[in-house]
Amino acid sequence: MSIEGKIALITGGANGIGFCTARKLLRNGAKAVALLDLGDSGGESAAADLNNEFGKDRAIFIVCDVSKSEQLKESFKKIIDTYESLDILVNIAGIMDDADWEIMVDVNYKGIVQATILGLHTMGRYKGGNGGTIVNMSSVAGLEGIPIAPIYGGTQYAIVGFTQSLKHYHEKTGIRMLTICPGLTTTAMAARFMSSKEHAMDLLDEETAAAAMASMQKQPPEHVATAIIQLIEHGKNGAIFVIENNQPAYAVEVPSYSTLKVPI
Ligand SMILES: NC(=O)c1ccc[n+]([C@@H]2O[C@H](COP(=O)([O-])OP(=O)(O)OC[C@H]3O[C@@H](n4cnc5c(N)ncnc54)[C@H](O)[C@@H]3O)[C@@H](O)[C@H]2O)c1
Repeated sequence: MSIEGKIALITGGANGIGFCTARKLLRNGAKAVALLDLGDSGGESAAADLNNEFGKDRAIFIVCDVSKSEQLKESFKKIIDTYESLDILVNIAGIMDDADWEIMVDVNYKGIVQATILGLHTMGRYKGGNGGTIVNMSSVAGLEGIPIAPIYGGTQYAIVGFTQSLKHYHEKTGIRMLTICPGLTTTAMAARFMSSKEHAMDLLDEETAAAAMASMQKQPPEHVATAIIQLIEHGKNGAIFVIENNQPAYAVEVPSYSTLKVPI
C-alpha cells in the first residue's frame, strides 16, 4: 500500500516511537497525521515541529487519554470532521508499569481495543468506509513474555491475540490487521522503567531489573518507525513484524498450537 496522500492517526504520537512514525509517514507522502496523546505530552510542539518540517496543516495534535472511551470517540469524530476520512490507524500509546498495573491494562489493552473498534467502524467497508490499515503495537514481550515485567508482558500477548483474531474479517472490513513487535528501544518509557523502584508482586529487585535491561541490545525509536512504515507498505493482512537489536525487521507467524504438541 502506498502511503502517498493518506490520512493517518497515531495514538501516543507526541513522543518516542509514535512521533518518529508520524514523521516518517509524512516523509513518505502522507497527506496528514493526527497525533493523539496526553495533555502534558508535549503534543502541541510535536505537531508544530512536523508542520515546520513538512508544511502547514500536515499534523494536528488532539488531547486524548486512550484509556477513556469517550475521549477516543471524540478524537475520531474530530479527525473525520477535519479530514473527512481516515486510512491508517497506528495504535502506539502504551506504558510499562507493573506496579500500577490496572491503569496499565486500561491503557495498553483497553485503549488498543477501543481505538481498533473505532478504526473498524470508521474505515471498515462493512460500515460504508473505504477500508484501510490498522497497526497495533505489541512487543517481543508479546511473543515470549518478559520476566522483569510479567503483567506488561500479558498486555502485549493480549494485543497479539486480539489483532490475530481480527485478521479473519479482512474480506468484510477491507482493513489489514498488522502487529509490530519491537525489542528494547531507547525511549522515555524504557528509561522510566529502568529508574522505577517499584515492581509488582515483590518478585523483582531493582538491581535484577537494571541488569536484565542492560543485557538487552537497544535500538533508537527511528529504527522501529522504519519497520512500521515497511509493515504498512508491504505487510500482508495478519502480518507480525519483529524489530529488535537494531537489525532489519523480519516477519513471524503464530503457529497453530496443534503443531507444537510435546509429550506430557
Ligand atoms: N521502548 C521500548 O523498549 C518498547 C519495546 C516494545 C514495545 N514498546 C511499545 O511502544 C509503545 C510506545 O512506547 P515508547 O517506547 O515510544 O515510549 P514513549 O514513552 O516515548 O511514548 C509513549 C507515548 O504514549 C503516550 N501515552 C501514554 N499513556 C497514554 C494514554 N493513556 N493516552 C494517550 N497517550 C498515552 C505518552 O504520552 C507518549 O507520548 C508502547 O506501547 C510500548 O509498549 C516499547
